[in-house]
Amino acid sequence: MKKIVLFLIGLTMFCTFAVAGTVADQTKGAKELKLNGGSKGEVSFTHFKHQERLGDCNICHSFFPKSPGAVEALKQKGDLKKKHIMNKLCIKCHKAEKKAGKSYGPVTCSKCHIRK
Ligand code: HEC
Ligand code: HEC
Ligand code: HEC
Repeated sequence: MKKIVLFLIGLTMFCTFAVAGTVADQTKGAKELKLNGGSKGEVSFTHFKHQERLGDCNICHSFFPKSPGAVEALKQKGDLKKKHIMNKLCIKCHKAEKKAGKSYGPVTCSKCHIRK
């Protein structure tokens, strides 16, 4: 009887954590993202790694909302110029980190864009 009670308590705790985990993941978005890189090919983006390293969501999300396909939608509407995010956000930061002598992300075309 005692074992069953302990098992049930354990199961309840496990479920609570499992649910909490899913909710947290939803608000943080996807771990890895694929961005539309037009004719140059798709761009893989390590979302969580950037979140952890940079800390502040607004470094990026002041440019576009926290929703899937947000960048593409703004580009379609003409509210964001083509390559604006690429040049004014991604590459700008990678270059700055490189200059500062820290570990940095790709600054050359083919390191970001993957041709299929
Ligand atoms: C270095 C840039 C960057 C940072 C920092 C960043 N994000 Fe994102 N995020 C993106 C990009 C790029 C997308 C994809 C937008 C698109 O699909 O057009 C995105 C999409 C999302 C989405 C929706 C799409 C999905 O993944 O399901 C959510 C939610 C999100 N981010 C939450 C966050 C939160 C919360 C933080 C801070 C803890 C954060 N982001 C920090 C770049 C960033
Ligand atoms: C740090 C990663 C990164 C690097 C390096 C990079 N790009 Fe991009 N590129 C992106 C992202 C992200 C997008 C989509 C967002 C945007 O358009 O700003 C993009 C979009 C594009 C587009 C499509 C624009 C459109 O809407 O039609 C082209 C073309 C492009 N890049 C060419 C290049 C060329 C050429 C180089 C090298 C000189 C380069 N990229 C280097 C990340 C990168
Ligand atoms: C404010 C700074 C900053 C911004 C903005 C930023 N990055 Fe990075 N990125 C980094 C740093 C720092 C690294 C190196 C992480 C490491 O190796 O420790 C990195 C690494 C990368 C890598 C290599 C894989 C990895 O995770 O190590 C890719 C690909 C990348 N970034 C793509 C992008 C794209 C695409 C965008 C724009 C949507 C972007 N980054 C915006 C700072 C930034």
